[in-house]
Amino acid sequence: MPELDLPQRQASDSLMLTGFWYRALAADRVHRNQLYKATLLEIPLVIGRDRLGQPFALRDSCPHRGMPLNCGRFDGENLECGYHGWQFDVHDGQCQLIPSLTADQNLKVDRIYAGSYACEEQDSFVWVFIPDPAPPGAGFALRGEAPEPSPQIEKFSSKYKSAYLQAEMPVSIDHGIIGLMDPAHGPFVHQAWWWRAQHSIHEKKKNFEPIPNGFRMSAHTPSSNSAPYKLLRLYADADSITTTIDFVLPNIRSETIRAGKYWFSSLTTVTPIARNRCRIDVVAAWNLFRWVPFVPDLLKFFFAKFVEQDRRTMELQAEGLKHNPHLMLIDDADRPAKWYFQLKAAHLEAKRTGAEMKHPMPGPVTLKWRS
Ligand code: FES
Ligand SMILES: [Fe+2]
Repeated sequence: MPELDLPQRQASDSLMLTGFWYRALAADRVHRNQLYKATLLEIPLVIGRDRLGQPFALRDSCPHRGMPLNCGRFDGENLECGYHGWQFDVHDGQCQLIPSLTADQNLKVDRIYAGSYACEEQDSFVWVFIPDPAPPGAGFALRGEAPEPSPQIEKFSSKYKSAYLQAEMPVSIDHGIIGLMDPAHGPFVHQAWWWRAQHSIHEKKKNFEPIPNGFRMSAHTPSSNSAPYKLLRLYADADSITTTIDFVLPNIRSETIRAGKYWFSSLTTVTPIARNRCRIDVVAAWNLFRWVPFVPDLLKFFFAKFVEQDRRTMELQAEGLKHNPHLMLIDDADRPAKWYFQLKAAHLEAKRTGAEMKHPMPGPVTLKWRS
């Protein structure tokens, strides 16, 4: 018998996971020698690019008296706080100069650090690694490196096109994510003649398997009632088309569609900005239609509609959530959402105990729903 679950009201301290890379800003909007504000997990950041184009991320707060550093001056190498002119190296935050010191005052300037974060540019975005909260004494310590590089889109040929889209939503990271993985809203939210019609709703059966930190919808021939797949079928034999969808903590959904030598990949993230605000960033890469000039724009247009439908829905949902209603998750359509909460809990538990993370899925599972 399907189980009905009342999801826990989420404890605010478990809401946003530290120790992961997050997308901060679209790379094409970050210019050399300029400073930009961004917020990740309620942490204020100042982001920029040095004169060689290397991105950096600092905590947007001067370690002296808390002045936002984005109001300072930046010469492409060091950032000077607008209050008392302390200067910091933008990549490691190390203090370079305190102008008020006299020649006989021997304060060790280089022992002082502004908060800094590992920062990388990858697939159209500037990513920032948000470490677990630092022990007190930060301000006098060089930050550690990120344990692994930032996530990448899978690509299967050297030539490809790519595009990105963003939308901000007034809901928590959890609602953003379970909305993203929810298979049952398609026919109601994403109705459009070019995508699919509500009357095309039919029973689906999909296999899922556990993967490290997440789960995978196993490679399968995609749903026959959606337009992108109908398009792909023009290029390849229907049986050769397979799609794989992965979700991994903290916030990554990646999808790969392959049809012979053609492929389409996307990496979607839902980034926690504040407790009740998140942003969805979709980056897609593909090698189909590379030579047809308008197709990337067309794809982007369809994708934008799609994301806008989700954004609009979550904006409306946020109205309902203001009144803190009781919620429920049903089997099987909400099972991925349940796995998400269980994965998150298991991750936090493993961190707390230092033991290995216990994966909530015992093994492969088949889910059925209508959509
Ligand atoms: S607050 Fe930044 S230098 Fe004083
Ligand atoms: Fe959606």
